[in-house]
Amino acid sequence: MSTKPSRRAYVETYGCQMNISDGELMEGILERSGYDIVGRPEDADVVLVNTCAIREHAEKRVLGRVSQLNGLKRDRPEMVIGVTGCMAQRMGGTLLEEAPYVDIVMGPDGYRGLPETLDRLESGRREGSAPPPPESVGLAREGAGAGGIEVLRGGRKRGPQLAVLQLDMDENYQGLEQRRADGPSAWIPIQRGCDHRCTYCIVPYVRGGEKNRSAVEVVSEVRGLAEQGVTEITLLGQTVNSYVWEDVPFPELLKRVARVDGIRRVRFTSPHPRDVNEALAEVMATEAAVCEQLHLPAQAGNNRTLKRMLRRYTVETLLEKVDMVRSAVPDIALSTDIIVAFPGETDSEFRDTLDLMRTVRFDDAFTYKYSLRDGTPATRLPEGDFIDPDEAQARLAELIEVSRAIQNEINRDEVGRIEEVLIEGEGRDPGQVRGRTRRNKVVVFDGEAARMGAYTHARLERTTGATFVGSEVEAPERVTASA
Ligand code: SAH
Ligand code: SF4
Ligand code: F3S
Repeated sequence: MSTKPSRRAYVETYGCQMNISDGELMEGILERSGYDIVGRPEDADVVLVNTCAIREHAEKRVLGRVSQLNGLKRDRPEMVIGVTGCMAQRMGGTLLEEAPYVDIVMGPDGYRGLPETLDRLESGRREGSAPPPPESVGLAREGAGAGGIEVLRGGRKRGPQLAVLQLDMDENYQGLEQRRADGPSAWIPIQRGCDHRCTYCIVPYVRGGEKNRSAVEVVSEVRGLAEQGVTEITLLGQTVNSYVWEDVPFPELLKRVARVDGIRRVRFTSPHPRDVNEALAEVMATEAAVCEQLHLPAQAGNNRTLKRMLRRYTVETLLEKVDMVRSAVPDIALSTDIIVAFPGETDSEFRDTLDLMRTVRFDDAFTYKYSLRDGTPATRLPEGDFIDPDEAQARLAELIEVSRAIQNEINRDEVGRIEEVLIEGEGRDPGQVRGRTRRNKVVVFDGEAARMGAYTHARLERTTGATFVGSEVEAPERVTASA
């Protein structure tokens, strides 16, 4: 345990919910170790940027931000800048060379030892390090010491730089809790890493293989949160429904969580289509707390592309899964992720993806242009397969147009429904609140912000396309959503 009660830390997170949850984990670890968590980098002695590596664009943005934060070091050279998360794992020592003002790089399995790493940096700074010889350009490695910390000296920086980059199949952060913001909703990681190797994706390389948490621990964490007033739980994992712990497969865990006293809503993300099965559909249909919502990342609507992406399902089996969940939960809202311009995707194969969108009619779609990630299998595809950026942009624009039009139609048809809404915060206009329906749709309506965390009912009066404007109504005897 560190004994530096006066130190202040700031964590800024990018990327997916898993990473946001890791940011809260780091805050929890630092707080228990005596750090005060602050809300602004200007107020912090330790600034951690928790990064994402999923697309090049995400990384560029973060590198810009890290360099901007370095500006704070001008007045306070003793400030520590750490880069954590998936991009830190991917770039490692290269990041320390490219951004010599970064003091620590730490991958997703290094957080348990974060306070010790910070102590180590401080003692390294006190000891001082020899100025590098003028011809030295690279980094001299001292090798990984205790806790897998690699000390790097030399290069363009005088002080020590530390790298914690070992992936650890045993690290699932059991026994450590996140520092959570107050509110009705909590995100609970039940799985880290991924055992798939989708050919475009960096995640397995920066987060390692799939590791699941004990079902007993997950349920007891949910109980603890419910006692503190949390009513909505989202279970998290890269392929959350492949979760299994001893004799507890994912549908069973979902059922146990849904039955915890006080929990009114349960969601989970992201399921892999391959592991969407009858048992899961059955639990979704029968457990009252499990919301009528499923994120089903399709990625593409063409079998040759799916095969080359190594997604391990076909359009036909995907459609079967859609039918299965829709017949179990008729009112279910479906969302998806789609990548356009995967290397080698022909125009007609892209049109198959548009057809899939029109066949399934997803309530929401997150759409991306393929981004090359070094080290992933797709980088080895023939050079001529890589699609011209203008063409990729045109495909993305067309996909967005199609998916938005479908979303608008679906939502227009929902106007007039009365739905249960959990109030999550203030709306954009004064006097308005913002909430979410069980089917994960955002509704704003007149109400007092002080009611955050309350459940009420709202009639959907009109739609802006993606979201709704509603009005609060008395709870009906029968709610449309569960009719
Ligand atoms: N584990 C989740 C995905 C996590 S990444 C799953 O399998 O569904 C979130 C989304 O980012 C993916 O679903 C995919 O659509 C997109 N994505 C991942 N790698 C990408 C890449 N190299 N280029 C573009 N989009 C990518
Ligand atoms: Fe990436 Fe595929 Fe794993 Fe999702 S399932 S994290 S897309 S490798
Ligand atoms: Fe990004 Fe890492 Fe999540 S790469 S999407 S932050 S798992």
